[in-house]
Amino acid sequence: MNLGIIYLFLFIFFPDNCLHLPALLNDIMNRSIADLKTVRLNEETNAVVILDQTRLPGSETYISLSSAEEIWEAIYRLKVRGAPAIGITAAYGIYICSKQIAATTYEEFYQEFSRVKNYLASARPTAVNLEAALNRMEKVVCRFSSAPQFDRSDILHKLYKEAEAIRAEDAAACRRIGENCLSLLRPGMGLLTHCNAGHLAVSEYGTALAPIYLGEERGYHFKVFADETRPLLQGARLTAYELQKAGVDVTLICDNMASVVMQKGWVQAVVVGCDRIAANGDVANKIGTSGVAILAYHYGIPFYVLGPTSTIDLSCPNGDSIVIEERSPEEVTDMWYVSKMAPEKVKVYNPAFDVTSHELITAIITEKKIIYPPFEGLYE
Ligand code: MRU
Repeated sequence: MNLGIIYLFLFIFFPDNCLHLPALLNDIMNRSIADLKTVRLNEETNAVVILDQTRLPGSETYISLSSAEEIWEAIYRLKVRGAPAIGITAAYGIYICSKQIAATTYEEFYQEFSRVKNYLASARPTAVNLEAALNRMEKVVCRFSSAPQFDRSDILHKLYKEAEAIRAEDAAACRRIGENCLSLLRPGMGLLTHCNAGHLAVSEYGTALAPIYLGEERGYHFKVFADETRPLLQGARLTAYELQKAGVDVTLICDNMASVVMQKGWVQAVVVGCDRIAANGDVANKIGTSGVAILAYHYGIPFYVLGPTSTIDLSCPNGDSIVIEERSPEEVTDMWYVSKMAPEKVKVYNPAFDVTSHELITAIITEKKIIYPPFEGLYE
């Protein structure tokens, strides 16, 4: 938005408030975080509408995704990212794609549905939510396998309901996660977070950022340190953006500054999200999380992992069995730089996630409860 035009508008329509123009302008520009819709379904245009997170913080741009290729690409390129948000996108996405299946029998329908499902699931391997949401959608279709007649519109209706349920469950879970974690925190605490497990990573509110938003509503006034989160800068571009927009006291630090803010006594707890929780309590989350956990352990700072129970994957006995996504070298050598900042053809290792050992985790906080070591509560 052009600031000059806004000033002119305010001068014309609010002449009495001329002295307060900066504050008025601030109100207009800083709409509530809830105005940002990470993922939604547009039934009229048959599209999944996402806020393109690769364009934040510079521009709040929404894009419509109508084909399996567009949905895959948006997930792969992190236009939509964060474990719950990609699950919801995939659920809405496969519903939209199912509407496009021209089948006359259940078998034809299911064959094409499976193809699209496997294709979407291949976009990113680590977050359990993508696969889990698609599996839930598949179960809906499978329930019709023995129906006497192929009723396409009924299948589509049930798919729609399931996708909406996945979204609604996520929103409710986030709020409960926030409440549960808040019971462990005290007003004025310094909190450190890594990557973005906020409103932008879920349907609304966030997981790791949920207690921060709830706390802000209740006057806790936490002081948050956001790791920038190399190489894709989810902390700098997204966490700092959404917390600042919500009026939270947030300080951006480079990843290698986490130790010093802990050493100075500015951090009383670490709150992070998760992409997959193994049966023994090992947690996969954004690359760099395990380093933060080691630092927190060293300084005796509680390290809390926040996530919905849907992130628990009991089929993974421990972190070694979690598939870790590796991404392109250019994200390390080129992205965000005016020109290439590493020698041509240098070898690059770019894992998108790492595994934090359960030994370093103080508690895993879900929508149902707070689970402490040895994390046997994961099975309940
Ligand atoms: O690669 P990203 O940006 O999708 O990684 C996101 C994270 O690691 C989040 O911490 C995790 O998905 C939890 S989001 C509530």
